[in-house]
Amino acid sequence: MICFPRGSLLLAPMVGITNRAFRTLVHELGGADWYTTEMASAEAFLAGGRNEAVYLDPAPCPSHTSVQFTARTPESLAAACRALSNVADMQRPAGIDINMGCSVPHIKGSGRGAALLDTTARAREMVAAARENWTGILSAKIRLSSVQGEEGTIALAKSLAEAGLDFLVVHARFDTQKFRRKADHGFALLLAQELSIPVIANGDISTAEDCRSLLASGKIHSLMIGRAAVREPWLFKRLHAALAGRSTCPLQTYDLLAIGLRYIELVEMMLPSEWQKETCRRVFWYYADNVSFAHHLRFSLINASTLDAMRACLTRYFDEVPQDRFR
Ligand SMILES: Cc1cc2nc3c(=O)[nH]c(=O)nc-3n(C[C@H](O)[C@H](O)[C@H](O)COP(=O)(O)O)c2cc1C
Repeated sequence: MICFPRGSLLLAPMVGITNRAFRTLVHELGGADWYTTEMASAEAFLAGGRNEAVYLDPAPCPSHTSVQFTARTPESLAAACRALSNVADMQRPAGIDINMGCSVPHIKGSGRGAALLDTTARAREMVAAARENWTGILSAKIRLSSVQGEEGTIALAKSLAEAGLDFLVVHARFDTQKFRRKADHGFALLLAQELSIPVIANGDISTAEDCRSLLASGKIHSLMIGRAAVREPWLFKRLHAALAGRSTCPLQTYDLLAIGLRYIELVEMMLPSEWQKETCRRVFWYYADNVSFAHHLRFSLINASTLDAMRACLTRYFDEVPQDRFR
């Protein structure tokens, strides 16, 4: 079971970024084919943490959104899946994704995220526990295991598929690698050839050429995009137009000031006040790349102490450099 067609473009999970406000912005600008929330802790959800409802909020497209969980044990993942199954229809996401790629020390150190790549049996238990307790779409997002190597990661992925995944996302870098080296999509292709479930490739995808070359073999089912979509929240629409052979409509221009201001408005409406500045900073870190004096805009936004100060930074920048405003 999978509810997006071949060649779909999915939004990647990103902590502090792919919350409801950012996903709504993407949706308003043409939309991704599938959305993933930022990772949420199964244990914190079960404990009823103060902002858990915000992490798990699947709006604006619950039928095309997966909530991503990290979990310390199969039991807590199973319980979180059961609890999410009981949520009312419109607040329930279509999918659950299991994070098997995060290598941040406090996540890996507690047996979550990329720690699951080290032991196939344990990763498989996680998938089986989720599958038994969740009838919706189930996926996992993995990286290459530095412990098991390429062959071991393929064996692990096959085992996860057998345990009941509907699709697998592969961010084709070793779990120990930072962003400096390019993702190895040759590995994603290899995995797609070996697995009977759809494989979604992720990592460094930003152009129509990237998409075409990855989809050309017909083996890789779809693509997932992270940072490039924060730079250009309208990217999904632009890439789909290019892949369909349409140049984006000549009348379609994007007003970078209006989009920035709209994003701040969505953050104010949808997120807890204590998250607002940080999430804006994370998004604007990437978004600033759209302008000629990116460093200048980025650092003035990062140093702004209130959302109003961020609004003023954006407005001042485009007053001073009006030629950057539309693209
Ligand atoms: C700021 C940031 C936060 C991220 N948070 C998550 C996360 O919560 N869960 C996850 O599986 N991956 C996370 N990732 C990894 C991305 O989902 C993605 O795999 C990675 O950025 C490579 O894709 P890209 O080159 O298209 O950005 C994060 C990446 C970034 C840059």
